[in-house]
Amino acid sequence: MILTAATTDLFAFDEARLDELTTRHGTPFFAYDLAAARERFTRLRAALPARVRLAYAVKSNPGLPLLETFAEQGAWFDCASAGEVSTALAAGATGQGMVFAGPAKTERDLQAALFAGARIQVDGIEDVARLHDLHTGDHPLPVNVRINPAAGVSEVATIIGGGGPSAFGVDEEVMEDFVTEAARYDRVEIRGLQVFAASNELDAGRLLANHRTALRIGQRLRQLVGRELDLIDIGGGLGIRYALTEPTLDVRALGAGLGRILAEHDWFTGELLLEPGRWLSGPTGVYAARVVRPKVSRGERFVMLEGGINHLLRPLLTGQSFPTLAVRPGQGVLTGDRSTATLAGPLCTSLDRVGTGDLPTDLRPGDVVVFGQTGAYAYTQAMSHFLSHALPEQHWLDEI
Ligand SMILES: Cc1ncc(COP(=O)(O)O)c(C=O)c1O
Repeated sequence: MILTAATTDLFAFDEARLDELTTRHGTPFFAYDLAAARERFTRLRAALPARVRLAYAVKSNPGLPLLETFAEQGAWFDCASAGEVSTALAAGATGQGMVFAGPAKTERDLQAALFAGARIQVDGIEDVARLHDLHTGDHPLPVNVRINPAAGVSEVATIIGGGGPSAFGVDEEVMEDFVTEAARYDRVEIRGLQVFAASNELDAGRLLANHRTALRIGQRLRQLVGRELDLIDIGGGLGIRYALTEPTLDVRALGAGLGRILAEHDWFTGELLLEPGRWLSGPTGVYAARVVRPKVSRGERFVMLEGGINHLLRPLLTGQSFPTLAVRPGQGVLTGDRSTATLAGPLCTSLDRVGTGDLPTDLRPGDVVVFGQTGAYAYTQAMSHFLSHALPEQHWLDEI
């Protein structure tokens, strides 16, 4: 794929900037565009009804400059570990603007979330029992319960689940039993709901189908607990395209649909919380790795790179490649004849593949392969310590 104006949404920086970055900085590196992060947050915010809150899912990219950028825009934060809570607090988040989720929360996680004053999403009765013991306030602790819907749309079922057996939440079929049991713990009060059953979804209609399910579950939960719900968290899952052949998620259609769902469910007067990670952070980042050598093995073209699954794991996990292009530092993006190559890294395992790319046939050592859409689930989702290679640098760029 040759980078042109039509493809720039796959890469955070234009051709001149990529040339400059690969000339100025040693590789491998990640570079992020904070101005793009600001623009994406503002665009999504503008597409949503006022009653929809926006929380940034820290797990997609916990870089402090990124969190600070979102905090300045008034974002809430979705945290899933004690470490994420402390990063969000350092970025300027407050407990009132924080939710905390996780399928296996340790006591340290719960303590951190309680300390911050975050709204905790309980995943089972064990969370309720432990919070009942840990909570020291005068009033019952308001919590959300995560419900695993009986049916749901899930593009990448292995990552998030939805419909089938799940490590997350309480199965919808046993919600009534859960509510009955939870009522025995009087220092904890169910005041909200979390339903999240999709990942990297590009179709607003499919996301909205899940959100409709969430409100239907909320209606039943409200009856079961006998009190109003003040927060329904409908998760993240807003997709980004990793190839030009994929569509772009229509966030205005998503916002309009959420407005309709809220109007249909006028019993619900609380706030709806959307917690995207990938949509906000993915397009803000690129990863750049130098070509060590080209190789052909039994007719298959390989490009051997200085970085592999120790820096980018997602292609191996999902079978989906990041978009790529090649830069010859000082000469710009290479636009000559190209062919498909398997991108392999330096680790001593045949697992070390970072997808495929349509790359120039004259690639040579010293050229740089740039991977787009790597602002999310990249730097911190990799097997960083495997084989003890150095970590890539991270550069946070901003132009206000
Ligand atoms: C509870 C929760 N919220 C939000 C997200 C963010 O999802 P995405 O990055 O697909 O928007 C995740 C991702 O795993 C999650 O587990």
